[in-house]
Amino acid sequence: MFLKFLTFTIAIGGSALGGPIDPFGSSAARVLTQLPEKTWLESIAVRRNGDILATSLFYSSNIFTVTQPSVHAHNTAKILASVPEVNSLLGITEVPGSYDEEAFFFVGGNFTSLTTFSTTVGSFKGFKLTFPRNGNPTVQKVSDLAPFSSFPNSVTAIPQAPGSVLVADSFVGAIGRLDLLTGQYDPRAFAFDDMAVPKGAKLPIGISAMRMKGSYLYYGNPSTQSIYKVKVDSKGYLVKGAQPSLVANISSVAPGLDDFIFDPQGNILLATNSPENAIVHVDVRTGRSKRIIGGPTDPLMPDSTCLAFGRGILDTNTFYVSTGRNISDPTTSARIVAVDASLLNYY
Ligand SMILES: *[C@@H]1O[C@H](CO)[C@@H](O)[C@H](O)[C@H]1NC(C)=O
Ligand SMILES: *[C@@H]1O[C@H](CO)[C@@H](O)[C@H](O)[C@H]1NC(C)=O
Ligand SMILES: *[C@@H]1O[C@H](CO)[C@@H](O)[C@H](O)[C@H]1NC(C)=O
Repeated sequence: MFLKFLTFTIAIGGSALGGPIDPFGSSAARVLTQLPEKTWLESIAVRRNGDILATSLFYSSNIFTVTQPSVHAHNTAKILASVPEVNSLLGITEVPGSYDEEAFFFVGGNFTSLTTFSTTVGSFKGFKLTFPRNGNPTVQKVSDLAPFSSFPNSVTAIPQAPGSVLVADSFVGAIGRLDLLTGQYDPRAFAFDDMAVPKGAKLPIGISAMRMKGSYLYYGNPSTQSIYKVKVDSKGYLVKGAQPSLVANISSVAPGLDDFIFDPQGNILLATNSPENAIVHVDVRTGRSKRIIGGPTDPLMPDSTCLAFGRGILDTNTFYVSTGRNISDPTTSARIVAVDASLLNYY
């Protein structure tokens, strides 16, 4: 496995640094776009038309977009929208919508330090980004996430309940449920001990990611390097009496975890953040986990934060990874990395 990883690194270094970038070449990963200095990407989603959306944290509260990433050899991230009333944006998710309107929900608020992850309690809000069929996209506040939201991190839509979204708060250690129409927020719709930070944990960040899949809500807690699932109904409510169970403990593979998605086989692909700087594959049946791309010393994806599969004509096998930056080097900046999953061969 170590040897395989070395080969990857060399192949990737070659494509990322040397010569013209061939977007349909044979290496599994390439830097899709490098953002300018003082950028940090936190969450990524893909539009129906294949365009990428990515939220930025701390240095700016912008939503960046990369249009049609699968058809261009050279891509740039442009600012699609700015949200000046907060200084950071976090999780973003598509709200299952109607035929004439495409909409995304995202959260934002104020961070006072990126290294200690301190936030201004009460500054966090939920917003809706709408793409009307005709005209420019608009951003509108939908909720103050009151009363005590302090680090809403990951958000997820509920396929059968398009009027609500779930919001995982890493400091509250619970999942809240937000009504998008009224802005009403129940901060502890799901509150299990395994969502919080246990006493003495090195990383003081509780539940940081979640997704609904089938009849389960899956969630990850970086302070215990563990992924759990709990039974929910189709409207995203806890099944009465259901208790969470452990899906995987990735502590032997990576010291942290962040957002995850499901691959076409129904297994988890997970961004690890720094210092692992990688994507980890988790078999949801056995809990077996392994790094499939990136690594602590690989410059490919420093501080991998989130990932999303392409939805264009040429990139449904490709997942896009958003990154913060090299934590030890403030002169580095965020990037989006494209990984062709069909070339990874991780089974
Ligand atoms: C959050 O940050 C924004 C942008 O810097 C600022 O305008 C706003 O007053 C801050 N809000 C709070 C509650 O501190
Ligand atoms: C995960 O595994 C580590 C190492 O074996 C162990 O110390 C830790 O308690 C486990 N965590 C959970 C939540 O099972
Ligand atoms: C991050 O930056 C430090 C300091 O410049 C450097 O030593 C290290 O190799 C970089 N890490 C990666 C993964 O690029």
